[in-house]
Amino acid sequence: MKLDFFQNFIQFDEINSTNDFLKKNHKYLPNFTIIKAGFQTKGRGQFDKIWESDRNQNILISILFKKYLPSLMNNINHNIVNVIINTLKEYGITDATFKYPNDIIVQNNKIAGVLIETKYDNKNLEYMIIGIGININQENFKTSGAISLNNLIKRKIDLNEFICKFFEYLSRVIN
Ligand code: BTN
Repeated sequence: MKLDFFQNFIQFDEINSTNDFLKKNHKYLPNFTIIKAGFQTKGRGQFDKIWESDRNQNILISILFKKYLPSLMNNINHNIVNVIINTLKEYGITDATFKYPNDIIVQNNKIAGVLIETKYDNKNLEYMIIGIGININQENFKTSGAISLNNLIKRKIDLNEFICKFFEYLSRVIN
């Protein structure tokens, strides 16, 4: 395990958006900072959609990368999606698939989404922020076409346990 990569772990009960926090503060934060929130007041999806997530029910995290990591970033979308799909397999979900651009789909419904925001200063990476929303324990959604892990396996999941498994898979893509 190379979890020592991700030493700077900041948790908020409530925040506007974990991605927006990192965009605003990346200059003062170290590489590999993780922001986790219980609730987002302005959670964003792709194409400026709202990301729906009830309080303390789901995974809402963003990770800050300040250096270019070829093993991870040469194929970033594919790598992150695979990390999520592999983590879901640990919970018996074997039919999660990728849908362009960054959606993870199970039984025609969306269980997770990824929002990657990148800024270069000339040719140097200033930041890559990988925002991940995974529907874990929420049972009902206003957004049509959303599904959670709980909907699928009919039990509550420990969010921290899920996050640990996720970071174990993520660390395998980083070298
Ligand atoms: C999508 O499928 O449209 C992408 C959804 C990404 C949602 C996550 S939740 C954590 C992070 N903070 C945000 O505001 N968005 C991402």
